[in-house]
Amino acid sequence: MKILGISGYYHDSAAALVINGKVISAQEEERFTGIKHDNRFPINSIKWILKQNKLKINQIDKIVWYEDPKKKYERFKEQYFKYFPKTIGFTKKLWNWKKDNDIEKIIRTELKYKGVIEYCEHHIAHLAYSFYTSPFENTDIVSVDGVGENETAICALGLKGKYIQPLERNFFPHSLGLLYATITAFLGFKPNSGEYKVMGLAGYGSSKDLYKKQFEELAKVTVNNHIELNLKYFSFHYSDKIMFTTKMCELFGIAPRVYESELKQIHKDIAFSLQAHYERLFFQMLNYFQAHSKNENLCLSGGCAYNGLANGKITKKTKYKNVYVPPAPSDAGSAIGAALWSWMKDINHNKRVENINPYLGPSYNAVDYKNAINSTIYTIGKVERFDNYHPLIEKVAGLINDGAIIGWFQDGSEFGQRALGNRSILANPTISNIKPKVNRVIKKREGFRPFAPMVTFEDANKYFDMCGQEVPYMNQVFEVKDDFIASLPSITHIDGTARVQTVRSTFNPLIYMLLKKFEKKSGYPILLNTSFNLRGQTMVLDPITAIKTFYDCEMDYLVLGNYLISK
Ligand SMILES: [Fe+2]
Repeated sequence: MKILGISGYYHDSAAALVINGKVISAQEEERFTGIKHDNRFPINSIKWILKQNKLKINQIDKIVWYEDPKKKYERFKEQYFKYFPKTIGFTKKLWNWKKDNDIEKIIRTELKYKGVIEYCEHHIAHLAYSFYTSPFENTDIVSVDGVGENETAICALGLKGKYIQPLERNFFPHSLGLLYATITAFLGFKPNSGEYKVMGLAGYGSSKDLYKKQFEELAKVTVNNHIELNLKYFSFHYSDKIMFTTKMCELFGIAPRVYESELKQIHKDIAFSLQAHYERLFFQMLNYFQAHSKNENLCLSGGCAYNGLANGKITKKTKYKNVYVPPAPSDAGSAIGAALWSWMKDINHNKRVENINPYLGPSYNAVDYKNAINSTIYTIGKVERFDNYHPLIEKVAGLINDGAIIGWFQDGSEFGQRALGNRSILANPTISNIKPKVNRVIKKREGFRPFAPMVTFEDANKYFDMCGQEVPYMNQVFEVKDDFIASLPSITHIDGTARVQTVRSTFNPLIYMLLKKFEKKSGYPILLNTSFNLRGQTMVLDPITAIKTFYDCEMDYLVLGNYLISK
């Protein structure tokens, strides 16, 4: 059974191919178009998937869309009339909704597909992606995001051989994700994409939680575990121009920050208090649910599952002992989730297949690397080709130890927002001026944002306070142990934390080998790892773009498969 899962039209469009329960290929549309968070129909992802797997579209048994368009329309219509006349600006959108959101027509027209089309509810797709790719057979599953059709968060049970059982639902406009997005907008960042910047900024805010009272006024979790926003401060439910009212400015005593204007201490303090309040509400929700389920396992999904700061504290703030967050918990991952949901329901939930591989995108071989080196418009500097990886990795470990910044390109591209060692920029985390150097000459991004470490799985707990947890997809933030804060300056955030990726030898053998070689030289099996792209660009997808990016910035070396390129 070949199932194509598709997500799109909100943010992070993606497509995924699942054959008999196994995720074979998946990629976000943004990687092909270069447009960050591209939300258009993922035609390029689908074309690549079909070509890669030598399939024609009508050999696909079923296409599953990650939302229920009818339910979404019903919610929008209800929202329109409930808040009318404030929603007058939505009139054209409502009028054209059915025409613009005829998903079946879009799929049939774009793909010339004649087969079966199914719809999976938005949060069910989130829950299914997290549950069915997790190592757990029985678990709690929690999905939190901005909004799906009508729901903004669901707490559910995932039980072996059973349907996913949603037990608690939160409804629009009461949304933890939209609280975070609104304050992200108030602080002058782009909602639905700038939240991770606000998370980074929170580390610079006063730990006195100066705006606690204001946030308590904005949002709470009720006695029956429902998120409740104080709607007089919000306008996203009746406006698509602005997410908050003037009362929000009165509450914080400042005007909204203008995009890219100076970041003041008050913005950092608000970011801190937002994160602190988000965590209070999130843990309150989790604790309430766990008290009834008594489960020790938790799968997280939805856009809020990118909140690594909160995720990293779950085992300390709740009774959950094991936490799983998949590589792409937001809507991109729902392409996989929708397809897995459909497969599991059709086979009566009996046949779980292991799906832990995050390297689901385009992969390249030695011929591709050679052609890219020969065909690029750049005059390539020195190119060394290594017959096997041992001497290459030995050399690269030495270069990194000496302070070089390396572009590292191998095998299949990652699915999800994180570089997990196949499209990465790597550097020495023990050198204090490496972080500003990476920021200044390569990433050209805001200086306050932290860089993350990758570490061998067996050594992770020596350096980071992570209670033995495994985090292969880099979605949890932990404290760097006191003894190592001074020696790991480039991956320790100002608040003493780091967003860790643990690497097993079986997970990514080349990166694991590099970490071990680097340990021999530096004493630390840890590397600074950031995504291979420049500011405002998407992660590089192919060898030619990797070479172009290498020459467009001051990166020192580029590793393309078994080639080492210097300028
Ligand atoms: Fe979502």
